[in-house]
Amino acid sequence: MKITVIGTGYVGLVSGICYAELGHDVYCVDKDAAKINTLQSGGIPIYEPGLQRLSLKNMDAGRLRFTTALAEAMPEADIVIMAVGTPSLPSGEADMSYIEAAASEVGAAMNGYKVICVKSTVPVGTNERVGRIVRERYDGPFDTASLPEFLREGTAVRDTLHPDRIVIGTDGSRAARILSDLHRPLTNQIVLTDIRSAEMIKYASNAFLATKISFINEIANICEKVGADVIEVAKGMGLDNRIGGSFLRAGIGYGGSCFPKDTKALIQIAGNVEYDFKLLKSVVEVNKQQRFGVLDKLGKALGDVRGTTVGVWGLAFKPETDDVREAPALEIIEQLIESDATVKVYDPIAMANFKRTFDHPRIVWCDSALDTAQDSDALCLLTEWKEFAAIDLGAVRAALARPILIDGRNVYDVQRVREAGLHYYPVGRPGHEAYIPELILD
Ligand code: UDX
Repeated sequence: MKITVIGTGYVGLVSGICYAELGHDVYCVDKDAAKINTLQSGGIPIYEPGLQRLSLKNMDAGRLRFTTALAEAMPEADIVIMAVGTPSLPSGEADMSYIEAAASEVGAAMNGYKVICVKSTVPVGTNERVGRIVRERYDGPFDTASLPEFLREGTAVRDTLHPDRIVIGTDGSRAARILSDLHRPLTNQIVLTDIRSAEMIKYASNAFLATKISFINEIANICEKVGADVIEVAKGMGLDNRIGGSFLRAGIGYGGSCFPKDTKALIQIAGNVEYDFKLLKSVVEVNKQQRFGVLDKLGKALGDVRGTTVGVWGLAFKPETDDVREAPALEIIEQLIESDATVKVYDPIAMANFKRTFDHPRIVWCDSALDTAQDSDALCLLTEWKEFAAIDLGAVRAALARPILIDGRNVYDVQRVREAGLHYYPVGRPGHEAYIPELILD
């Protein structure tokens, strides 16, 4: 099939490259000439394992092309996939201006039947709006379809080529047939549904995953007070098939480009139809608070944070990405600086992105994990990069001025850290000076 993908952000780029990998002819379009230049010369503007190899392979095979000119990419297309950004407006609502502009340009470039899909995460009703905008400029046949994307950063290629399910929302059997044929090589789990339900599935899925994270984080906070271990609790819960073990890792909360934005957008969508989504509001609030647990522990361990030097391991919102959008590290470091601490930071990949987002004279940019620990009064692990998990804790202990390790992601075996002589403060687990209260039951 011939596919035109509009928008070379995370979703558009990964999808376009993966459709080419399936043997289709793909044109990726973006207004950003610098980005298109990078892509045309074999580069990848984001850090995503495996993506560059696939891009080069499919460009060489002549199946993958990049352009800034939509009019050049459109005429041959059977399928047009819109994957432009939908950033949050100050109200929390998704900003639809990029989608609307793209729809208008698609309408102007239509030259025969095509399926126009929206892959961006958009409020219920957007596909219908896209259809109306295209119709204003083109009176021939076309269908619109909702094709929500569930890929995760860091594992985007694998998630796209081996999805748990594909959701296709259409109101016409022709579009349903074309999109089912396109995705059948990827999975048998194809959910064919109406457009509004498909749009809702994306928000509901992300909101539910965010809910699981905030839920286990609150359980972790209680575990700390009653002397239980949240890792054991999550394991015991997760073995129940009805619950499932994934997304029950307690820590400093979720960040990234999706969960924070989509939870707020769904609250707003509900609000627009006069529904107060109380549960999801609490999920967002719990997530906002959770990151500050690191600072509470730091305060307790150091006595006073003022004038100290704190090492921070990990700036990205999660491992295997250089993305720092809504990363808990941003607010934690800001707070540390406000409390007059000097902050030594290190991340294997995300340093440059972080520095562009937030810089301060009291941030010391380090070259390695051990360099970050050197002479610091405490160390805070904020992103669970493998390199931190594998580090020699004896060397870390020797480098630190005071033996304090705050683990925001529960990476270490408690015994191993103790043996290295470190005072350990994980999330929801008995660490240093674990509080084992006498529980009075009546
Ligand atoms: C998410 C969704 O998983 C994906 O389906 C959607 O398309 C986009 O949003 P992503 O943001 O790339 O993907 O990362 P994900 O791996 O889902 O993690 C999101 C955040 O939750 C990270 O900050 C991660 O650290 C945190 N998280 C995840 C937890 O704190 N605990 C967990 O158990 C799982």
